[in-house]
Amino acid sequence: MRVLIVGSGGREHALAWRLARGAGTAPLSDREMVVAPGNAGMARDFARWGPGRARCAPLPRGGVDGVVALARAERADLVIVGPEQPLVDGVVDALAAADILCFGPSAAAARLEGSKAFMKDVCARAGVRGAAFVATSRVDEARRFIDERVRAGLGVVVKADGLCAGKGVVVCPHAPDAVAVVEDMLGVGRAAPRFGDASRTVVVEDLLPGVELSVFALCDGHDAALFGAARDHKRLHDEDRGPNTGGMGAVGPLDQRHGVPASMLAEVKERVVLPVLAELRARGAPFRGLLFAGLMVDGGVPQVLEFNVRFGDPETEALLLALDVDLLPALVAVARGERLPPVALQSADKAAVVVLAAAGYPDDPQQGAIIEGLEQAEQVQGAQVFCAGVAEDPAGHLAVAGGRVLVVGGRGASFDDALDRAYRAVDRIRIAGAQVRRDIGRSVRAR
Ligand SMILES: Nc1ncnc2c1ncn2[C@@H]1O[C@H](COP(=O)(O)OP(=O)(O)O)[C@@H](O)[C@H]1O
Ligand SMILES: [Mg+2]
Repeated sequence: MRVLIVGSGGREHALAWRLARGAGTAPLSDREMVVAPGNAGMARDFARWGPGRARCAPLPRGGVDGVVALARAERADLVIVGPEQPLVDGVVDALAAADILCFGPSAAAARLEGSKAFMKDVCARAGVRGAAFVATSRVDEARRFIDERVRAGLGVVVKADGLCAGKGVVVCPHAPDAVAVVEDMLGVGRAAPRFGDASRTVVVEDLLPGVELSVFALCDGHDAALFGAARDHKRLHDEDRGPNTGGMGAVGPLDQRHGVPASMLAEVKERVVLPVLAELRARGAPFRGLLFAGLMVDGGVPQVLEFNVRFGDPETEALLLALDVDLLPALVAVARGERLPPVALQSADKAAVVVLAAAGYPDDPQQGAIIEGLEQAEQVQGAQVFCAGVAEDPAGHLAVAGGRVLVVGGRGASFDDALDRAYRAVDRIRIAGAQVRRDIGRSVRAR
């Protein structure tokens, strides 16, 4: 079986790493992982897995058509798409039309991530709890909603409707600030909206208090199997200070000791995931793939902030590191449009991942610094290094080529163990100017 994984980062490295090994610890000979385009760090890791186990391949230009061309040329038995843009652009539909099996939602179902206004409408119809909102292209309508919140002394959040690579959300604890944000996003007084078509419409919603939680659900259109819950760390600096990032570290799976009892996951399945699947089915867009629910939990009650329609990064690296399960049969069944086979996605072991980011990330990541110490890092028992923004320089050294460079994981019987292993591995890696949060998992460490 040849599996083509589309994408270039830590998430794709982790997917290849887990899928290649089935439920065990050594890469299997009956399957080959091809990551396109992948990166030079991944390619070096793959070379150590033994012949025919995994490799990187260039991704042809042409967006969705390039993916179809490569899947054909590689005679891929299954395609898994990491990032959201090709899913929203219809890569799954194009592969299906070419008779190639692909794990992921159709463009119609991927709108759940591609349009926040669509997502809010689906949730409202399905009776799923989330922040009160208005979706509009008109400043006066947004202003009416904001004025009500100002009178009530509440904060709001302004979101561009479409995909903005994580830059389309502005949290406004002081609601009056939101009017200017709305005007800026819609492009009032300018030729075009701030994010082009992605911000012709905005969603303005209530600012919810609480702690965030990420829940992954493997969905076959009707039913779902949930992974354990994970927690990302979005801000650049310790104690949740500094600018927002793509994620500086994650821990999972969380359990009752960390405020996530099994009953909460069951509630998320019954009251969030299954109603959304039913609503999408009713709209003729059954969701087959990985549904990522971004939740805000306050007083034990989860509310939906957003959905992603693919594995999230870096939560995926943590959850896959904690798991000894062969995911491939379930992914194939979902891709075929069959019902989910029983699959145990909960694990007792814990995992933590810590991101090494380039100097200057996220605004202006500095490229080219040499990366040293990867082999020493992987000698730490239970540690695993996933490569994200890594290239090879002309002299053959691995070097920084991106914002988030490495995602360094540790697995253990407790978060204490997992975090110790991850940080011991981090401390063996040398990258000039690298930024690392030192407090990943602090809130779960002792528990
Ligand atoms: N209603 C809300 N209340 C509080 N915080 C929010 C709310 N909506 C979003 N946020 C914050 O903004 C971040 C980004 O919002 P999200 O909807 O996940 O958009 P995206 O991931 O597409 O940028 C969230 O992770 C959360 O920290
Ligand atoms: Mg998000």
